[in-house]
Amino acid sequence: MNCEYITEMPLFYQHNINEDTRLAIWHIEEPESFFLETVPLKKDVSHPFKRRQHLAGRYLLSYLFPDFPLEEIRIADTRQPFLASQRYHFSISHCGNYAAAVVSLSSRVGVDIEQISPRIERVGHKFLDDEEAHFFNDDYARFLEQWGMRGRVFQEFLTLIWSAKEAIFKWYGKGELDFRRHMKLEGNIIPDEDWIRLPFVFDKERPIHLGVAGRIFEEQSLTLAWVLT
Ligand SMILES: CC(C)(COP(=O)(O)OP(=O)(O)OC[C@H]1O[C@@H](n2cnc3c(N)ncnc32)[C@H](O)[C@@H]1OP(=O)(O)O)[C@@H](O)C(=O)NCCC(=O)NCCS
Repeated sequence: MNCEYITEMPLFYQHNINEDTRLAIWHIEEPESFFLETVPLKKDVSHPFKRRQHLAGRYLLSYLFPDFPLEEIRIADTRQPFLASQRYHFSISHCGNYAAAVVSLSSRVGVDIEQISPRIERVGHKFLDDEEAHFFNDDYARFLEQWGMRGRVFQEFLTLIWSAKEAIFKWYGKGELDFRRHMKLEGNIIPDEDWIRLPFVFDKERPIHLGVAGRIFEEQSLTLAWVLT
């Protein structure tokens, strides 16, 4: 399977990015006990809902690669989870009733999912600078404007850029990043059939060009972004 929408819940979506790298989104419907059959709970997460999100993220790792050694996950000072053996690289995100994960045998990865909401317009200035703003003021937005969908499109694109930056933050893993200064869109956002391509330059120690891939799930009001190198 390369890229597929799963209609039966709870596996909402799976995309095998390449031979070594798999991504999935889970719709969390199960009780905590379901996840605990597979996942050793090592972290003290007091809120039951957050605990279920946390467990679902870990569960997905072993869903994607059944031999993923969940018991070997360690947490860095930056709060990045990792395997000391580096047998797999992985990244996790959760949002509402969804959990997402990317696991790779060979590439460093970052993933993020976010709920689309009008609130994003109020916080956009915190993660987007003026130079970046014009990259999503493109033909696609103008095309949809004729049906009065521009507002919604802005919210979707803003959320997608936020998601992309969170994915880059996780891909980097070491924290201490300024979302406006260290990661910047360097070209137009390009919607194609399945994916939206977001060209970024990440510049902490030296400039690195990153192709972030994004997707908008309209019905679920959800954005997905992932990056790998
Ligand atoms: C860490 C952070 C990226 C998590 O994002 P979030 O949207 O709150 O939560 P998500 O559900 O998407 O991700 C949580 C997962 O990220 C992973 N994670 C946490 N810290 C991480 C880090 N430093 N590196 C990589 N992954 C990390 C964990 O797997 C965590 O889930 P788990 O604890 O269940 O294992 C976010 O809280 C953060 O600190 N962002 C930076 C904020 C910032 O600098 N903003 C400035 C611009 S406005």
